[in-house]
Amino acid sequence: MKETAFQKCINPDCGAEFDCGQPLFKCPKCEELLDAQYDWDKIEVPKKISDFAGRWATKSNRLDFSGVWRFRDLLNFCEDKYKISIGEGQTILQQNDAVAKYVDVRPGCLFLQYEGMNPSGSFKDNGMTAAFSHAKMVGATSSACASTGNTSAAVALYAQSCGIKCTVFIGSGRIAFGKLSQAMDYGAQTIQILGDFDDCMRQVQDVCSELGLYLLNSLNPFRLEGQKTIMYRIIEGLGFEVPDWIIVPGGNLGNSSAFGKAFYELKQLGLIEKIPRIAIINATGADTLTDLVNNKKLSWNNGYVDQKIIDDYYADLTARNFSPHTCASAIEISRPVNLKKCLRAIDICNGVVRAVTDEEILDAKALIGRYGLGCEPASAATIAGLKHLRAEGVVGADERIACVLTGHPLKDPNVTVNYHKDKQGQFSNPPIEAPNDLDAIIKLVTKNE
Ligand code: F0G
Repeated sequence: MKETAFQKCINPDCGAEFDCGQPLFKCPKCEELLDAQYDWDKIEVPKKISDFAGRWATKSNRLDFSGVWRFRDLLNFCEDKYKISIGEGQTILQQNDAVAKYVDVRPGCLFLQYEGMNPSGSFKDNGMTAAFSHAKMVGATSSACASTGNTSAAVALYAQSCGIKCTVFIGSGRIAFGKLSQAMDYGAQTIQILGDFDDCMRQVQDVCSELGLYLLNSLNPFRLEGQKTIMYRIIEGLGFEVPDWIIVPGGNLGNSSAFGKAFYELKQLGLIEKIPRIAIINATGADTLTDLVNNKKLSWNNGYVDQKIIDDYYADLTARNFSPHTCASAIEISRPVNLKKCLRAIDICNGVVRAVTDEEILDAKALIGRYGLGCEPASAATIAGLKHLRAEGVVGADERIACVLTGHPLKDPNVTVNYHKDKQGQFSNPPIEAPNDLDAIIKLVTKNE
């Protein structure tokens, strides 16, 4: 008899199923991506999505306090005794009219979802609480990940908190200092590879296979289950209504994949009536998805993705010795491992893809800092992308839009300081040099009033 939850290959010609007791990160039969799937008939899911609000009243229960496990019925793959939580998902959905004005959206329509408020300062904690719970369930003792920074910080924190060893692989010189400082401080074995994120991603898969380590990248289907809850919290923040648009930065494409799955399941379960559209935003220096979807016309095609287009594209990157570059180091990725699941999400959510320049990202980031709670560069790609989509008329001025701000502003202080100090953009706010003299200081201060 099939368990309540199981793993299933996304390749329609394979479709192999495996129980959740196996730590897998690709299909052992055809090497495609795996999904966590559920036998919904065997799960008692609340009748209305607003029923989840009842758990706020019992938040002394650690699982009800968690912004991930509060929705546990929708990611029901392990028993409560294995569930790890360090208080993730206490995030805010902020209506922000000042930023809305900048992107030409009507007051009351733009919402910013601050995932930087998680314990390790990024959205990754949503995924790690789920993946580490699965790691505990299968008895893992050692783990690993490749990272542009935030995954390594989150892995290091969760590994330490549940007593699992971890090794994190990062590209040398490719990681923001806030993130590197976390990995070291939380006690991860940190290995800097002379290469970029894509090199680290390739190496970590082989290391995990060879040494039997538990892999924590978003190839891990259980990690993506945790990331679905970002969408549940946005719906919750809107009084249990669905927005018209979700806007998210695209790197390794785990978030966009998880969001598409979340909405598909909610619709299937009758918990929502409408699926929002999704916009995935790359940086122009790392725009594989944009190029493949908008120029090469790659699509989900009912699961029959044209592999040749992808193979040719990657062969060309290799031939050109291409390595991605953007100030948004979190999304500096040219071979996104969740590409196919992301194509599925685009199909489910009638999605669009755009790329924005570093200059656009930096201005948007400064604006979110000036009028909101701030974020790291990759997160600001959402607002920069929205500006494009409004100018094109793809997004309407009175549609309800939720932008996922994936990481905390202190993750990458160098980028922020340089933007202001070197007057790189229209919102630069450089420090003013003053002599150590009261009259001169008073003169400077009054000039500002
Ligand atoms: N925003 C931030 C702040 C990130 O750290 C990442 C990914 C993304 C967006 C992209 O999300 O991969 O789901 O498309 N960071 C990974 C890491 C790759 O290693 O920390 P995605």
